[in-house]
Amino acid sequence: MDNNNKPIGFLDSGVGGLSVMKEAIKIMPNENYIYFGDSKNAPYGVKSTKEIRDLTFKAVEFLISKGIKGLVVACNTATSAAVRELRTVYPDMPLVGIEPAIKPAVELGRDGKILIMATPMTIKQDKFKLLLDKYKDKAEIVPIPCAGLMEFIESGVLDGIELEYYLKEKLSDYSSENVSSVVLGCTHYPFVKDSISKILGKNVEVIDGGEGTAREIKRRLAEKNLLNTNTTKGKIEIYNSLGEDKIIDLSWKLLS
Ligand code: DGL
Repeated sequence: MDNNNKPIGFLDSGVGGLSVMKEAIKIMPNENYIYFGDSKNAPYGVKSTKEIRDLTFKAVEFLISKGIKGLVVACNTATSAAVRELRTVYPDMPLVGIEPAIKPAVELGRDGKILIMATPMTIKQDKFKLLLDKYKDKAEIVPIPCAGLMEFIESGVLDGIELEYYLKEKLSDYSSENVSSVVLGCTHYPFVKDSISKILGKNVEVIDGGEGTAREIKRRLAEKNLLNTNTTKGKIEIYNSLGEDKIIDLSWKLLS
């Protein structure tokens, strides 16, 4: 197969990375895509760095066996645990990870705290601490570890009383009075963006890094002349380690 026609691979601990792939499809509809969700081993956000790294490498090997031309680690947790090592092992692969989009939140220049919702693992990592350090003089940034939130999305719950109860508890100290924006530091969370807005109010900006990540992989592929020149719509394949119809059906629903 001509290299340009090869698919772009996306991976996540489950269905979350589809929020990033969705953005990529918007700006590159003619590309072919392969998605791997590791729902069987989810959540990654409460595992050790070594466990996450091993699972991430396994997922990447699967995608490479499918002949991908570029890779998006569409999981903040897997990015913080493994992206450096992946770049060393696959130096020639256009490879993009995702990290909490603090920069656009700071650049809004609004008064009030910036909340970062992410998995406990992402918040614990040095990579995250360095990111916080970089912006600590420019804004008051508050990390909020959200163990248990990705499970709602994995089971297809995107709204409703239970989810609202969870979010209200997490965000009980905050409102549009004292918060300028919320950064979604986990790729599952954009699927519950409306429920988050409902609690904090419409004036609080909710920011995720999906679009920026999509633009970045496009740039990396363009640099290597690897963009697909076809003008027709590309093909999408979705795999999940659970191997059940239910999770594949949910994946297509989230992508639509
Ligand atoms: N979607 C993942 C992320 O962006 C994490 C969910 C998890 O496995 O804990 O961090």
